[in-house]
Amino acid sequence: MKTKIIESTEDNINIDGLKEAAAILKKGGTVAFPTETVYGLGANALNPEAVNKIFIAKGRPNDNPLIVHIASFDMLSPLVKDISGKTLKLIEVFWPGPLTVILNKNDIIPDEVSAGLETVGIRFPRNLIAQALIKESNLPIAAPSANLSGKPSPTRSEDVIEDLNSRVEAVVISDDSEVGIESTVINMTSEPPEILRPGIISKMDIEKVIGPVILSKGITTKEVPEKPASPGMKYKHYSPNANVVIVTGDSDQVRLKIKNYLNNHNEKIAVLLSKSKENVYNEFSNISIKKLGNNNLDYAHNLFSFLRDLDKEGVDTILVEQFDLEDHNLAVFDRLLHSSNYQLI
Ligand code: TXA
Ligand code: MG
Repeated sequence: MKTKIIESTEDNINIDGLKEAAAILKKGGTVAFPTETVYGLGANALNPEAVNKIFIAKGRPNDNPLIVHIASFDMLSPLVKDISGKTLKLIEVFWPGPLTVILNKNDIIPDEVSAGLETVGIRFPRNLIAQALIKESNLPIAAPSANLSGKPSPTRSEDVIEDLNSRVEAVVISDDSEVGIESTVINMTSEPPEILRPGIISKMDIEKVIGPVILSKGITTKEVPEKPASPGMKYKHYSPNANVVIVTGDSDQVRLKIKNYLNNHNEKIAVLLSKSKENVYNEFSNISIKKLGNNNLDYAHNLFSFLRDLDKEGVDTILVEQFDLEDHNLAVFDRLLHSSNYQLI
């Protein structure tokens, strides 16, 4: 199919273009669009046939449920039941924004969205283009990340086009995603609530608002329970073609290990700097060096785009300097663990 390209910025919303995109959604088509986390691939969440097109376009396993996106608090109550006081507190603070809450679903949500679960994930994104598109369509929009299943999530419009051109009806292209990693997913149907996927809104950020929550066991451990709380956890994820290796230890140890690796491997290697603020691997001329940045916001913003760029350079191995594993860094570390398939040295 021919993919229609529609351009918009948040400062200057292309309302005619978004009306066209909304018309495609209303007719049961698929439209990729920017959000503040990563680009999403949307379809009418209430139309099973439309939702199936998402799975086909991405090559996504059918037992991995989708997040439903809304653009006002009023859109929430028809979709779910049992909205607790705790949930209300949470969404009042973090919506619109990069937080997905898992709640008990109403029958209006088709099984295709929830993958047969009794629950559904809902998110109110803060990106103004996403909001305008949802409002124009006047529909809840099911949207996973707009990448081919297994690849790093797309944070730039060119990534979306690379993965989904001719597989979807339209792509709304815009600026790079502000956050760069996917939303925090929290299950509000369990007590204490459980973070199923860490994101830029951290455990501590959430606990300041609603008190104790737990981190799902699957986060940062390779063992996946037979019936994972979040079905997506069991799939290969965020993987570039290159081999990713996380290099652990204090600054000196990390540098020593990386230099040893470089001395002993005759392949195309890239190093992502976090602990090192500048290139401390000058003596090696044949490597790609990229600065992941100075803090968790930089790391999140850069990670997926770097992985995709290094694949284009044909890099064989990406060595990543491990950063501190404090609360606010956990989400990026989680993505790195998946990208590396848990290879740490
Ligand atoms: O930031 C984001 O959340 C992006 C943008 C587009 O909004 N979307 C996104 O969707 O990352 P996706 O499909 O790539 O990831 C959704 C994750 C998956 O790991 C899925 O298994 C989990 O959320 N999930 C969805 N519904 C669930 C449910 N009812 N129970 C447990 N986990 C659920
Ligand atoms: Mg995804």
